[in-house]
Amino acid sequence: MQHSIYKGGQDSEIVQLFAQAFTDTEGKKEGALIGNLVHTLLKITPTQDIRVFTTSKEEKIVGGVIFSKMRFNQSTVNAWLLSPAAVVPSVQGTGVGQGLIQHAHQFLKNEGAQVLITYGDIRFYSKVGYKPISEQVIPAPLRLSYPEGWIAQSLEGKEINPIKGKSFCAEALNNSVYW
Ligand SMILES: CC(C)(COP(=O)(O)OP(=O)(O)OC[C@H]1O[C@@H](n2cnc3c(N)ncnc32)[C@H](O)[C@@H]1OP(=O)(O)O)[C@@H](O)C(=O)NCCC(=O)NCCS
Repeated sequence: MQHSIYKGGQDSEIVQLFAQAFTDTEGKKEGALIGNLVHTLLKITPTQDIRVFTTSKEEKIVGGVIFSKMRFNQSTVNAWLLSPAAVVPSVQGTGVGQGLIQHAHQFLKNEGAQVLITYGDIRFYSKVGYKPISEQVIPAPLRLSYPEGWIAQSLEGKEINPIKGKSFCAEALNNSVYW
């Protein structure tokens, strides 16, 4: 397995990976929704605001994770939102997802990222350092239908300094269906 930063040229393979993984675990409708999200994230997000990481096995992409920049109107903290992540069903549960996400975290840390946030299942994301946070610590960009899934970590080895005001996510994620 080889984890790396994605430099372009395989967008449709990546979209297909996400659509397949989410269809398998959550059904056809969710698969189509997440496939479309990934397509849009790759298409419209300015290069400086997106980092895509993939895992390959024998030249085939078997895992992917996308981070996009979060911004705040009252803070300049360097923060990124992990959404979404997927591993092909045939290799799920073998450590690929955790390995890929840890690789991505190290890359982002080297670039100066300070805070990482995601919105998902704490039972998985706690394995790669995420902890529940309140919206008093990091405001969510849209209303959360599942506030327990709002989770984050500092890459600076300290507590996250509460951020006041409003937050803003990438345009592709700025839709209540994802929240
Ligand atoms: C979630 C996902 C990315 C994890 O990748 P993976 O390669 O299967 O995960 P890993 O093998 O690295 O780690 C899985 C560990 O998390 C645990 N876990 C808990 N809840 C889990 C969950 N909802 N999904 C996957 N693993 C979960 C597993 O028990 C396992 O624990 P262990 O290491 O102690 O055995 C992958 O299963 C996937 O693509 N799922 C479908 C899409 C999805 O739900 N994506 C996440 C939302 S953005």
